Amino acid sequence: MPFEDHGLDPARKAALLTGEGMWQTAGSAEAGIRALTLTDGPHGVRLAAGDDAGPALGESRPATCFPAECATASSWDPELLEELGRAAGREAAAYGVDVLLGPGLNIKRSPLGGRNFEYFSEDPLLTGALGAAWTRGVQSCRVAASPKHFAANNQETGRMTVDVIVDERTVREIYLRAFETVVKEAGPWTVMAAYNRINGFHAAQDPWLLTRVLRGEWGFDGVVVSDWGAVTDRAAALAAGLDLEMPSSSGLGPRELVAGLEAGLVSPEDVDASLDRMRELGRRTAGRTGEAPDFPAHDALARRAAAASMVLLKNDAGLLPFTPGASLAVIGELARTPRYQGSGSSRVNPTRLSTPWSALSERVPQASFSPGYSLQDLAPDTELIEEAVRAAAGADQVALFLGLPDAAETEGLDRSTLQLPEAQLRLLDAVARTRPDVAVILANGSVVDTAWAADTAAVLETWLPGQAGGDAVADVLLGDVNPSGKLAETFPRRLEDTPAYGNFPGEAGQVRYGEGLLVGYRWFDTRKLEPAFPFGHGLSYTDFSYSDLTVSVAEGAGGTGVQVQLKLTNSGAVEGAEVVQLYVASLAGTAPRAEQELRGFQRVSLGPGESRTLSLELPPGSLARFDPVTRTWVTDPGTYELRAGSSSRDIRLTAALELTVPVPQPLPTASSTLAEWMQHPVGAAVLAEVFAAGAASGPGSPGAPAPGAPAVGAPGPVSADQAAQMLTLMGSLPLERLGRFPGSPLSADQATQLARLVAERAGKEQGH
Ligand code: BGC
Repeated sequence: MPFEDHGLDPARKAALLTGEGMWQTAGSAEAGIRALTLTDGPHGVRLAAGDDAGPALGESRPATCFPAECATASSWDPELLEELGRAAGREAAAYGVDVLLGPGLNIKRSPLGGRNFEYFSEDPLLTGALGAAWTRGVQSCRVAASPKHFAANNQETGRMTVDVIVDERTVREIYLRAFETVVKEAGPWTVMAAYNRINGFHAAQDPWLLTRVLRGEWGFDGVVVSDWGAVTDRAAALAAGLDLEMPSSSGLGPRELVAGLEAGLVSPEDVDASLDRMRELGRRTAGRTGEAPDFPAHDALARRAAAASMVLLKNDAGLLPFTPGASLAVIGELARTPRYQGSGSSRVNPTRLSTPWSALSERVPQASFSPGYSLQDLAPDTELIEEAVRAAAGADQVALFLGLPDAAETEGLDRSTLQLPEAQLRLLDAVARTRPDVAVILANGSVVDTAWAADTAAVLETWLPGQAGGDAVADVLLGDVNPSGKLAETFPRRLEDTPAYGNFPGEAGQVRYGEGLLVGYRWFDTRKLEPAFPFGHGLSYTDFSYSDLTVSVAEGAGGTGVQVQLKLTNSGAVEGAEVVQLYVASLAGTAPRAEQELRGFQRVSLGPGESRTLSLELPPGSLARFDPVTRTWVTDPGTYELRAGSSSRDIRLTAALELTVPVPQPLPTASSTLAEWMQHPVGAAVLAEVFAAGAASGPGSPGAPAPGAPAVGAPGPVSADQAAQMLTLMGSLPLERLGRFPGSPLSADQATQLARLVAERAGKEQGH
């Protein structure tokens, strides 16, 4: 229904497309648009309590604080993520929230990224699968999810302004991929446009990103909402495809929009289309139940999720699990004052809080606690260290809790080092000298330097495990839960080994993504660098063996996919879950590619001695790369190696796959090189005709000389060797520039005509 029928003037329309206050939108009963409430996300609901003026990072209503994305990513478990989404969606619905601002889908480009804890992984496939699952869960409660921050928002330094300089192939394959997956597979009702710029364009005002790619190519039909304060020019933002500006801009955004309409910079149809989307969002979220959530059940889910997300990095001689009947020295202030969530807009006011010390002391009768360091005073404290060493010496088992302090990882600030605080390192050194059988338990939202791990017997990574993290860590340390988490990000040996080193966080307002496609393990594997702990790594209290890998091509309606089968056996003595990972190496060699890329995974639980045959399907397009010349996805024919393993560096089985899809043949254009023309069968034939014909019919026809140019006759016979040599010398010359050479058989204009001719003939050959 046209809004004019409701008598809405442009100013009123503009006001409906901007927030009202910090977290609400204005509604209009006459226009059928509901007033909506938006709130953070993504680790639980952070609904501001009381006055919502100002940034409102203060008090918020109690809600379950689920493990952060850095943790849940290590579960590699989409079903779990869907459950978590459902629980968060239920709490949001109960509080009357229409839009829950998450999941965070940005790729962890550098381990120093201050907000890495709010993102899943360095890999787009894993990020997309988990983000889609969480989105489905939230939206099953009729609460809209808001995948964020779209796109390439990978650092906190200059986060609101930084200009990301990145090539299109890298953007498509690495930084947009997870968003694409979530949009196509989970249909989010909103997407949040990021603060930063990409190649000079504000993400929140970029028509290519918000309209051509997001809506045009991926079919997104929801509301694009700005990150809080991301809009700098409301009219440009709307024209680019940004529907809703958040928060209220004290009337500035609406004034700019009206001015843009008057100046003809924004079309009234675009404004009405945005209003339609707002109306539809109101409809989609109208059926929220509002039923009171079961907080104890959500706490139990948070505990299960936290335990499933812990990664056993090292476990020499099966040190873990601990024996509850033996004495245990629990050392480290973080066991008593846990770090369980990150700082910034995702901070949740938990419904309860478990601590590792309370959970362990309840279950281990002979447990002692020594703080070892202070979280307030970061300088090493000799007395605390000596007390801890004495406790360690006198106990049967030693658990040392280390991690990053709150201030080290927060929205708005990148980290400057991978090191743990000095006071903790000194404590670790002293304890490990007395007790080399110490188990270190880490709490951090992003990777840390682990050079010290060599002096310890076991290391358990718990990430930021949420409000039930204390109970969950006791579950894993005491063997009630068998750890099954796998790293979703590489632990480097040195910061200097990481892909963005030297290009992070940029300078003069720009950051250059110089590593291109080689992000995370793609970099370590391609460069043959040894990580401290590789992507996909994670030990278990049991062992798994892999056998019987078969790989076949699966032709389906959507194109060529790959079908993989293998047998997995729990060869140990306890039940456990394994994440089978499938990496693919392209040996086709047509374009630069990473050494290997994750193309599939499956988490499987097996009882002791149990075997199962697993099927993994790689859907059509799984092996594709983005071709920057044609700006399309192409799948190269040739040989691929499929590698099934327990981590990116623990490949257990490999199989070759021969793909006989047609060779992608981008149509040559006037600016394509001679070599590119020669590679295209129709292009090569057309050129051959031109060269053979020399001066032919009238001006304008292919093969005719440029007006005024000397006519060139058919060249004499050229040997194959001469032709090859000529191509080596001239192959990189764009066809349109050939006309600048004396005696050239064609002019620049004719290059364009030839390109048209090739397109026509190629089209005819394909029956178009
Ligand atoms: C953050 C978003 C968040 C929003 C609202 C912004 O500063 O980047 O992630 O959703 O604030 O709190």
